[in-house]
Amino acid sequence: MVFDDLVKVTSGFQEGGLPVLIEPIKSFNKLTETNQLPWQEYVPTIKKVVDEFLLNTGGILFRGFTGGKGDSKFCNAFAQMFGEQLLTYDFGSTPRTDLGEGVYTATEYPAHQIIPLHNEQAYTLNWPMRIWFHCVTAPQSGGETPIANSREVYKHIPLAIRERFESKKLLYVRNYGNGLDLPWETVFNTDSKDQVERYCQQNDIGFMWKDDDELRTWQKCQATAQHPITKDWVWFNQAHLFHVSNIEPAAREALLDVVELEDLPRNVYYGDGIEIEESILQEIRGVLDQQTVSFPWQEGDFMMLDNMLSAHGRSSFSGDRKVVVAMARPHTESGSF
Ligand SMILES: [Fe+2]
Repeated sequence: MVFDDLVKVTSGFQEGGLPVLIEPIKSFNKLTETNQLPWQEYVPTIKKVVDEFLLNTGGILFRGFTGGKGDSKFCNAFAQMFGEQLLTYDFGSTPRTDLGEGVYTATEYPAHQIIPLHNEQAYTLNWPMRIWFHCVTAPQSGGETPIANSREVYKHIPLAIRERFESKKLLYVRNYGNGLDLPWETVFNTDSKDQVERYCQQNDIGFMWKDDDELRTWQKCQATAQHPITKDWVWFNQAHLFHVSNIEPAAREALLDVVELEDLPRNVYYGDGIEIEESILQEIRGVLDQQTVSFPWQEGDFMMLDNMLSAHGRSSFSGDRKVVVAMARPHTESGSF
């Protein structure tokens, strides 16, 4: 399909079109003596395509648009073409570097680690509706950002599990600092305990300061959620990431040698505080695996996801990899369960 004689739209990498692929149609540009227009020339068409496809498919990959520098400024400019105010990464769960102007590095976990599929900030009650990834440096191998259709994940989770999760909800417990996880000062972006307490109170997060001056928080959250525009139900939680079974057995054992279960950097229970069965989490991981769509990054790529309709993760990689991220459109779920 061609839009405005400027871009070509193809149905991506999977039946059902996640992600839809958009590429500029090459034509010789006398001004720059290249066969491509500056990306700004495509903005009206790109917006049209996003209106047409984002909510249907959940994700769009823009390939072949050059921004000159291919850096975080380009990411900011690209994301801002939609008139969005970019969000800060408050109450985050993973290490990132703030590159300024609402652009962050993608989670800085070591290259050998895999980040399972997840919807951004689904472990809390406030999340961005839109998320952009921009590949500045493509890794030598691996390092994909796999994605999945969260509506399909919802449909494929066995009904008994879904109903159990939906009725009980989830309780996420986090312990900060102690050299085991991000310090609370980083997560809450402040050195002030008062400010942390205010944030927690305003966001339905329980908290306690421990004897060593470290912090524990807990929050009851949704397991599934309804998209505010499409009204689709989506699987929307990070139980499989927060649960202790997400840590490899040897590392888990070593960790539990030094801390009590309740002091683990992160863990999750059913909303009533009962432990979640590992076998159930394995079934959930199996569904996520089945729904995964993966493709190699090319330098300059942009991927735009509706954060409720599509989950994302990260494959292990070798070589340098730089993918930057921007988020927008905050959504708040009611915490009154
Ligand atoms: Fe993420």
